[in-house]
Order: sequence, then structure tokens, then C-alpha cells
Amino acid sequence: MSNSLSFFENFEYKNNQLHCENVAFSDLAQKFATPLFVYSRGVLENNFNEFNQVLKNHPAGNNALLCYAVKANGNLAILDLFSQLGAGFDIVSGGELARVMAAGGDASKVVFSGVGKSESDIRAALEANIHCFNVESEAELYRLNEIAKKHGKVAPISFRVNPNVDPKTHPYISTGLKKNKFGVAYDNALDLYKTAAKLEFIKIVGIDCHIGSQLLDVSPCVEAFEKILLLVEKINAAGINIAHIDIGGGLGIRYQRDEVAPKVTDYLNPILDLLQKYNQKNGTKITLILEPGRRMVGNAGALLMNVEYTKLGETKNFVVVDAAMNDLMRPALYDAWHEILPVKTDSQAEEKIYDVVGPICETGDFIGKDRKFASQIQSGDLLAAMSAGAYGMSMSSNYNARVRVAEVLVSGDKVQLIRERETIQSLFANEKRLDH
Ligand code: LLP
Repeated sequence: MSNSLSFFENFEYKNNQLHCENVAFSDLAQKFATPLFVYSRGVLENNFNEFNQVLKNHPAGNNALLCYAVKANGNLAILDLFSQLGAGFDIVSGGELARVMAAGGDASKVVFSGVGKSESDIRAALEANIHCFNVESEAELYRLNEIAKKHGKVAPISFRVNPNVDPKTHPYISTGLKKNKFGVAYDNALDLYKTAAKLEFIKIVGIDCHIGSQLLDVSPCVEAFEKILLLVEKINAAGINIAHIDIGGGLGIRYQRDEVAPKVTDYLNPILDLLQKYNQKNGTKITLILEPGRRMVGNAGALLMNVEYTKLGETKNFVVVDAAMNDLMRPALYDAWHEILPVKTDSQAEEKIYDVVGPICETGDFIGKDRKFASQIQSGDLLAAMSAGAYGMSMSSNYNARVRVAEVLVSGDKVQLIRERETIQSLFANEKRLDH
């Protein structure tokens, strides 16, 4: 594979055939059919270890808690793997909590984010004794206090504070601006901490922020962290102890050849330096919590798809594949760009430009636009949409009565089916015909 694609790590061409670790994509297609999500265990482990090493090597990071954001990819095998490596989890629903528990995760390392936590979700998290509720409004604080009281529990909390910092990313995944629905306003946070300190069934343990996702510039994260430290100083001065600062997730990955994703060191070290300075100055032992999602799984996965038809048009050529926006909705939703690689290469071939589209009845159903492939590309050829490990399967749906696809995890030359393809029957198994 050319160096320009080396960011896909364990996905490479050997003998002109795309492989995940030691397994050829064409063999995976034959054995498991398409479309198929393919994950590299080696890349997942490397991604986790990269964060872990940076934390372990810094005096302010060696007791940090790495809470993988389940929403990026909640497959049980992936949660199991991260849990075995020592991760905690960032969840946003009772469903995600249940996934973490089913995968053998440790509830005492779980933080619970989200603006709309339901009563039953809160109850389940209290019963599981999670590490912290990241509270996003005053109303949620009171609801949490009431439910904790009813169940004879004390709820550990932090407030998710909105630092009003522009993360310079896609507007749909910017979360830390005043206009966004997330978190409590920076200027109200101190008063909310004082209110919370008086509630009998609430225990303040930390402070939290998350400014956005797919961040390719780390300076907004550092700016947000500086603002949070200023607030922590005021909260401490009010006699309230903050044991941890949760900086959320958001570190971006490289989707395109001309993109540069920051190194984990360049993202974390400035934050850890600031934390260490703060702890030394104030005699505190505040620890760090992180909630990375995409950076842990994004480039560990690809969506393997089969060419159904090619259509040469007057103004556009199309490759119609068997995967669609219901399988990978990022292009349709955010106009996101995923590299699309042919599973078999032929460097001699003449090329043409195509849109890669799915079978769904929407013009927005595309996987990629204006991509170059060999002009002989035809039905039965295989393509792989790269960087599909994060927000691929987890955002998939059954639109157009399409079954959700299978997932496999590759490790060396071993392959494990970690989610079976849904069956047609399962699509309407919960539905009923008319009563009368
Ligand atoms: N923590 C909180 C509170 C979050 O809201 C998110 C993501 C994360 C952590 C993890 O962020 P990450 O490290 O993955 O950037 N569907 C979109 C991304 C939505 C992100 C939502 N929140 C996409 O496909 O780009």
C-alpha cells in the first residue's frame, strides 16, 4: 500500500489484495457475505495503548480513567476488549449501560452523559453504582436527588459545563457553544455547585465538559480546560471538593489523505501539564477522566461491500453497491468523506470517476462521490469504505426494510463473527397485524 494510506495501519494490500491483518477481504466476503463491518483487533489495542501510555508517562495522568464512549461502537466484543485492557465507559442511555454490563464492564468506572436521562435510566445507573452522573441541567439535578432519595442511594455527580469554546468542527457535532443544547452555562456553574452541595442525596465528585467531535485542532480543548480550571478554583474556594475533571472525548482521526490528526501526546500533554501545575499550586489531587470514542475505533474498522451494478451516465457514472446510508449514514448526514478502496487493485488499469451509491430510494444515499476506480469495475467486485469503525454500525438502521449487517473481528489470521447479520423475520418480529 502506498505510504499515503499508511494511517489505516493493519489494513493493507498484499499481492494486490486488501487485507485486514492477515485475512483477505475477499475471503471475508466469501465466508460472511456482504455488506460486512470488519474490525482489526490489533488497531483497537494500539489505539487504547496509545492513550494509556501517554497517561501512564505523565505524573498527572497515571491515575486517570479512560472511559471509552460506547456510542461510537457498542459491540459487546469491542466493549469486552476495552474492559479487559482496563477501560471504563462513557454511556448515554440505560441501553448502553446494559451493553457495558453484558460485556463484563465495571460499573464503578462508568460515567453517564446526556441531556435527557430518563427516570428508568437513572434508576438503573444508581442500582449499578456507576462512578458519576454528568448532570446537564438544574432540572436533572433535582430529578436525580429525588430518585436517589427514593432508592436509598446517594448519586455521585459532576456538572457538564459548557465552556463556550468553538471546536472548529462540523456544526452537527459541535457541542460546547452557548447555542448548543448541552451542559450548563459556564456563568451559572458555580451557583449550581453551591445548590448541589446542599442536596442530601447528591455527592459532588467532579466537573465535566465535552466541546465537540472530530477535532483536528487541539487548541480549543486546551482553552476549554483552562476555563474549567478557573472554575474549579472558584468551586474549591466555596468549600466544595472536586476529585476529577472529565474532558470528554472528541479527538479526531484522519479520514482523508490530506488531513492531519493530532497525536494523542499533543492533545493530552498540554492538559496534563496544566493539571499538574494546578494540583501543585493548590495541594489538590484532581484526576483526569477522558471519554474518547472515534479515536479508539474509527480507523480500526471498514465496511466491505459488493458492487451490484455499474451505470455509465451522461454526466455521472455510478457504482451501485449493496451497502447504503442505513449501514453507514455519515456521508448522508454530515457529507462526511470515507476513503473507498478496491479490494483488488490493478495499477495498469485505466480509470474513470464514479459516485458510489447504495440501493436506498434517496438521492442522499451515497457512500462517496467522485471517486476514481478502474474503468472495468463491474458487478461482483468488492470495495471497502474505510474509517468506518466509529459511528458506522452504531448509527445504522433498518430503513427500506434492510437488515443490519454482520460484524467480524480479525486478529492475526483469526476471524470471529461478533454480530450475526439480522434476519428478514427479525425486521417485523415485534409488529402486529390489525386486531380487527
Ligand atoms: N462524550 C460525550 C459527552 C459525547 O457527546 C461524545 C460524542 C463523546 C464523548 C465521544 O466523542 P468522540 O471521541 O467520538 O468524538 N455521529 C457523529 C459523532 C457524534 C458524536 C457525539 N458525541 C459522527 O459520526 O461524526
